[in-house]
This record gives sequence, structure tokens and C-alpha cells, in this order.
Amino acid sequence: MKLFRKLAIDLGTANSIVWEVGEGIVLNEPTVVAVGLEDRKVLAVGNEAKKMLGKTPEYIEVIRPMEDGVIADYEVTEAMLRFFLKEVMGAAWFFRPEVMLCVPAGVTQVEQRAVLDAALSAGAKKAYLIDKPLAAAIGAKIPVSEAAGNMIFDIGGGAAEAAVIALGGVVTHKSIRVGGNRLDKVIAAYVRKKHNLVIGEQTAEAVKIGLGSAIKLKRPETMEISGRDSVFGLPKNMTIDSDEVYEAIKPVLDQIVSVVKDTLEITPPELVADIIDRGMVLSGGGSQLRNFNVLVTREIGVSAHVAIEPQYCVIKGTGIALENLEVYRRAIR
Ligand SMILES: Nc1ncnc2c1ncn2[C@@H]1O[C@H](COP(=O)(O)OP(=O)(O)OP(=O)(O)O)[C@@H](O)[C@H]1O
Ligand SMILES: [Mg+2]
Repeated sequence: MKLFRKLAIDLGTANSIVWEVGEGIVLNEPTVVAVGLEDRKVLAVGNEAKKMLGKTPEYIEVIRPMEDGVIADYEVTEAMLRFFLKEVMGAAWFFRPEVMLCVPAGVTQVEQRAVLDAALSAGAKKAYLIDKPLAAAIGAKIPVSEAAGNMIFDIGGGAAEAAVIALGGVVTHKSIRVGGNRLDKVIAAYVRKKHNLVIGEQTAEAVKIGLGSAIKLKRPETMEISGRDSVFGLPKNMTIDSDEVYEAIKPVLDQIVSVVKDTLEITPPELVADIIDRGMVLSGGGSQLRNFNVLVTREIGVSAHVAIEPQYCVIKGTGIALENLEVYRRAIR
């Protein structure tokens, strides 16, 4: 058993992942917490809490304590972190772990402080921060230390962030508080408006993963969904097709892709030239939407490809930075 343990943590809007130095990923659970409405007592965390989404009695509230990589509910985040640390460390931990967490490039001092404080009071001995886009780039195996521009575009659950990296640091970045979860929302809204069918968050996500595409499919596909009729209140089944899903998500996709344009606009021309040469890399769970890289390539005119295991780029990069603190020293806070 190791005495001094080092953990990297990615507190995402949708999923929280913990990586242990020397081990790899040791925890991956939804960033969801169920609390008692009256006493705010934590009742369930992660997978257990996600199962409760949309099914809770009146006295239980299910919370997503992170919004766009920033803490939205401090107490609940701290409790969740403590729970995750306990899971990973086991019951008896004599030496508190060192942890590294990642935060979006654009966060304020106050938001950074909140993340550090939450980690320390949840049981960490020391806590460091690294910029999320830099972590994503390291995790995607981009040579971040070179004197050349590289672009990374991370599409998570709650946010999309594009950044240009050179010489081991973030040079320019832009983000919007729109990510994969917004696609679920607009699919649910579309189905409700067009078919008077109310569907839950998890069904909407399944539709997105099953039928969603960033480019209209040549051969439309269909899927059976069920929910509640919004007029009669009774259970109802229907078939939805990929053209409808495309129509619903297209405006949001355009919004997401515009972040890349906005970032390139403020990037020094020499670095833009590098990016045109090298292409850009997509990371985050949302980049797995079918044909998303095709849409980005078409709209931006720079070839885009999805990283290997895009949902793990940020955590891998955070872990690698923690393992090589000296190498990335200048980028760590
Ligand atoms: N195959 C897929 N197709 C489309 N979207 C997907 C797919 N798999 C996962 N997603 C979406 O990816 C999103 C979660 O991505 P990820 O785990 O990177 O988010 P996060 O890191 O928790 O959020 P953030 O980085 O915004 O804080 C969800 O919206 C999920 O629905
Ligand atoms: Mg993320």
C-alpha cells in the first residue's frame, strides 16, 4: 500500500473522474448528488444519485453541483468530493492525498479559490490547479511545449471551450456555457412542442446518442421513445427520426462551433498558420456526437479530428501534469 497518494480530479458538469498517479482512472461517476430538502443531508452521490433523477419524492432534491466547470453549490460540491475521496482512499487513510484539479481557462480568482478550498476541506493535504484546455491538450498527446500553436476544442456536458496552446501555456481561449447537455434539452423541448410528448433527461440523451448527427444523415434512422402525453397526461410511445433530431439540435451546434471562430479571431496570425497546418483536436464527451468533426472541419475550414477516448483527455492530462509537476510547473497554480 502506498502511503503518499496523488490524485487528479476532473469535476465536470456531467461526470467526475479521479485518476491516481501510478494507477490511472480509479473513479468515474456522474456529478450528481441527492440531498434531503429540509436538512440538506447528502443521501446519495454519483451513480446512485443519478438513478434518482426525475424520480424523487418531494423531500429529496437531486442536484448537479457543478456548472460549466465552476462550483454552483459549494456545500454540496465539498460533500461530493469528500465522498469521492473516501471511495478512492478506502476507509483508513492516515496520510491525506495531494490533489490536482482542473478549471476552465476563464475562471475568476474567487472561483479558483472555491475549488481549492473545497478540495482542502474535503480532505486533501495539498491542492493544485491546472487550466482545463491545457490538461485536455496534454491528455490528447498534443506536443504542448513546442513553440508552435495547437488548438484544442473541448465539448463537455455544460460548456464548450476552445483554446490555442503554445510553449506550454494557453495563449487564447473562448468558451460558452453550452455543451452536450443543451442538446438533450432542445431535443426534449422539440418532442414536446411537435408531438406533445414529455420525455425525461435520460431519454433525451439516449435519443441524441442514438440518432443525433451534426450533419444531416443521408439515410434517416428512427428510434422508439416513450414518455407522457402533455395534453392527456397518459403514457405514450412514438417513433422519432434523425431528421427531426437534426432540426432540433442544429442551432445549438452552430452556437458551439462559433466558439472556435471567436477564438481564432483573437489568435496571433503566426499561431493561426500553425493550426491550419496541423489541424485541431476535439475532446470531451460531446465531441463524440456523430459527424461533429465533419461539421467543425466544414465550418472552420481547418481539419478537425476527435482525440482517442475524448471524454478522458482532461483527466489524463491532469494526471500527467501531476506526475510531472516540474515539467508543467509554470502552468500550475
Ligand atoms: N456518443 C455520444 N454522442 C453524443 N454525445 C455524447 C456521447 N457520449 C457522451 N456524450 C455527451 O457528452 C457530455 C458529457 O461529456 P463530458 O463527460 O466530457 O462532460 P463534463 O466534463 O462532465 O462537462 P464539462 O466539461 O462541460 O464540465 C454529455 O452531454 C453526454 O451526453
Ligand atoms: Mg469536461
